[in-house]
Amino acid sequence: MKRNVIVSSPGKLIIGGEHAVVYGRRALVTSIGMRLYMQLTAEEQTNEPTSPVLKVSFQDTNQQHLIDLSNIQNSYPIEIQGILFVYNHFKSFVSDRSQLNIQVHSEIPIGAGLGSSAAFSVCLVGCFYLLYHKTLNREDINELSYKVECIFHGTPSGIDNTISTYGQSLVYSRAVKKHINFRLSNLAIIDTGIPKSTKRMVELVRLFVESNQQEGERILNDVERCVDSMIEHSEQIDQLFQENQQLLKCLGVSTLEIDNIIEILAKKNISAKITGAGGGGCLIALTSCFTKDQILDLLQDNHIKSIAFVECGVEGLREEQTF
Ligand code: PMV
Repeated sequence: MKRNVIVSSPGKLIIGGEHAVVYGRRALVTSIGMRLYMQLTAEEQTNEPTSPVLKVSFQDTNQQHLIDLSNIQNSYPIEIQGILFVYNHFKSFVSDRSQLNIQVHSEIPIGAGLGSSAAFSVCLVGCFYLLYHKTLNREDINELSYKVECIFHGTPSGIDNTISTYGQSLVYSRAVKKHINFRLSNLAIIDTGIPKSTKRMVELVRLFVESNQQEGERILNDVERCVDSMIEHSEQIDQLFQENQQLLKCLGVSTLEIDNIIEILAKKNISAKITGAGGGGCLIALTSCFTKDQILDLLQDNHIKSIAFVECGVEGLREEQTF
């Protein structure tokens, strides 16, 4: 017998409050119209006794992994470790004769701060949940996908998996998770193409906050105030983008390249800020009356990898009919 489920979940943009959210402050986050799709197939082997096998295919990179589930090793790539963690959680439901097949494809760029790993974690848990419990219980899925995120990133705040699970826009802190009606039209994502490491940036901020306790606290509180204003006074969003960017710079996560891009945009009255961990990755810009080509022209000497306009506040984890 063959059983098959398909799910998808979105990437995200942190509009304000990244890093401060690690210290319990409120952040504003929105899901975006770029999704990761995952298909999980479980097939019972009816012929001679076999050991259970897991096959994983990443379609975008053409990578395939074949894992003998009766002989699990310690040396798998990190994404396979995440899959095996979830497999272990559902193991009691999986028959010894099962062949599991996971296929993944994604519209979310990897390592750009747009939530690709969280979408992967959420879809992974979502697939197993749907196949073995026949429902998508978001609370359970969010909780377990956070644990997968911890395998990938240490101790993240949980903002990425939460927005990918629930979708729309959220005010998020470790204590609060509240949907709000927040949408920005003409929000451009500018991918600097500079690789970044969330772990390294979070560590950098931790060092800063620990060695400058008073100043660190003040900055974190200012970031939270800035986020609250973004929610309550969205008409001031341009100014608030600039303020949040200044505070991120004080925390040490901007770079010369990022400052340069932001300065060029500012000369055209385009407000922009880091989204996510910083040190590279993506910026978001409020491009009220500029086209993608105009912004590209403006930034042509700055080695920009891509610019995209995205829909915000989209649906979270959902079941799909086609892969
Ligand atoms: O991995 P990124 O670039 O989406 O950054 C995550 C946001 C941080 O606040 C820097 C870390 C966290 O866990 O919230």
